[in-house]
Amino acid sequence: MTKILAIETSCDETAAAVVEDGHIVHANVVATQIELHRRFGGVFPELASRQHVLAIQPVIAQALATAATPVAALDAVAVTCGPGLSGSLLVGVNAAKGLAFAAHKPLLAVNHLEGHIYSNWLDGPQRPASRFPSLVLIVSGGHTELIEMRDHGRYRRLGGTLDDAAGEAFDKVARLLDLGFPGGPAIQEAASQGDPAAFALPRALRHPASHRFDFSFSGLKTAVLNLVTQLGAAGHDLRSPQLRSDLAASFQQAVVDVLVEKTAAAALAVGAEQVCLCGGVSANQRLRQQASEQMAVLGMPLYIPPLAFCTDNAAMIGAAAYYHPTVAEGLALDVQPSLPLLDSVEEGQHT
Ligand code: KG4
Ligand code: ZN
Repeated sequence: MTKILAIETSCDETAAAVVEDGHIVHANVVATQIELHRRFGGVFPELASRQHVLAIQPVIAQALATAATPVAALDAVAVTCGPGLSGSLLVGVNAAKGLAFAAHKPLLAVNHLEGHIYSNWLDGPQRPASRFPSLVLIVSGGHTELIEMRDHGRYRRLGGTLDDAAGEAFDKVARLLDLGFPGGPAIQEAASQGDPAAFALPRALRHPASHRFDFSFSGLKTAVLNLVTQLGAAGHDLRSPQLRSDLAASFQQAVVDVLVEKTAAAALAVGAEQVCLCGGVSANQRLRQQASEQMAVLGMPLYIPPLAFCTDNAAMIGAAAYYHPTVAEGLALDVQPSLPLLDSVEEGQHT
C-alpha cells in the first residue's frame, strides 16, 4: 500500500489530495479561484499566486483530515512542478518541499500533463485496463495534444495545437459572445439551446498530410469574431439569446468535430488498444457524446474521467506520481513553467 499526498497549484485551483496505490482517492480538495478571476475574464497570474499562498495550508490540512491520514502515515509527497504559471507553481512546490523535508518523506515531481493523463486511472465508474499502446487526447485550457502512450511513463507526442489550445478557444469565444468565465461551461450551457448547424465555421487542418495530428483553433476564433461583426452590421440583435446559442453551438460543434476526427485517426494509426480523453475540455458533454459514438463505431474502448477529475485537481497528480514516480532532489526542486511531456520513446522505436 502506498499513500501519497499530492499538491497541485499550476494555474487557478489550489488543490491537495490523498491517493492510495494510484487510484483510491481518500481526499480530493480543490479551492477554485474562479470568482476571483471572473471580473478579469481570465486568470490574472499575480492574483492567482497570492490566493494560492492564502489557501495552500488550509487545503492541505483539509485533505489530510478528510483522509484521516497523519503526515507520518504518508509514503511520499507529490507536487506539480510544471507546466503552468511560475508564481502559482512555486507556492505548491515550496509547500511540498517544506512538508517532505520536515517529515523525512520522498518528494515526487509531477508533470501536470502526465497528471491529466492519469486522471483516467483514478477510481470512477470505469478505469482503463492499462492496455498499451493507448492513445491519449489531452485537451485543456493550456494544451491540446495527441499522445501515444506505450507504457506507464512512456510517451510519444503525435501532434498538438499550432496556436490556441481548445480550452483557450472556448474561453476567448465565450468572452466574445459575452457569456462569462470560464468559457467552456458557459459555451456548453448556451449551446444546449442552439443549433450546431446554424453557422458554417471552419474546421482547420482537417486533411493536410503534414499536419495530420496537429490542431489550429485561432482561425476558428477569428471566424466567430468576423461572423459576429457581420451579423451586427446586418442588423441582427447580438444580445438575442437564440442567436448567441446558435453561435455557441456552431462553434462547439466545429471544435468537437476536429478533436474527435483527429483522435480517431491517431488511434487507428498507432493501432491503439484504447483511447483516453483528459483535461478540462473533456468535461464537455458534446465531446464526450460524440467521442463515445465514434469510438463505438471503431470498436475501440474509450475512457473519459468523471467530471471532477477532468479539470485541474490533485488526485490526478497523486495517480501520476504512483505510476511514474520521479524522485526530486529535495530542496533543489525548481518550477518548470514550460515543461513539456517528454518524448520518452527511444529513437529507432518511432513508427
Ligand atoms: O484542465 P484545466 O482545468 O486547466 C488547464 O490545465 O488548462 O482546463 C481548463 C479549461 C478551460 O479553458 C475551460 O474553459 C475548459 O477547460 N472547460 C471546458 C468545459 N469545462 C471546462 N471546455 C468545454 N466544455 C466544458 N464543459
Ligand atoms: Zn490542467
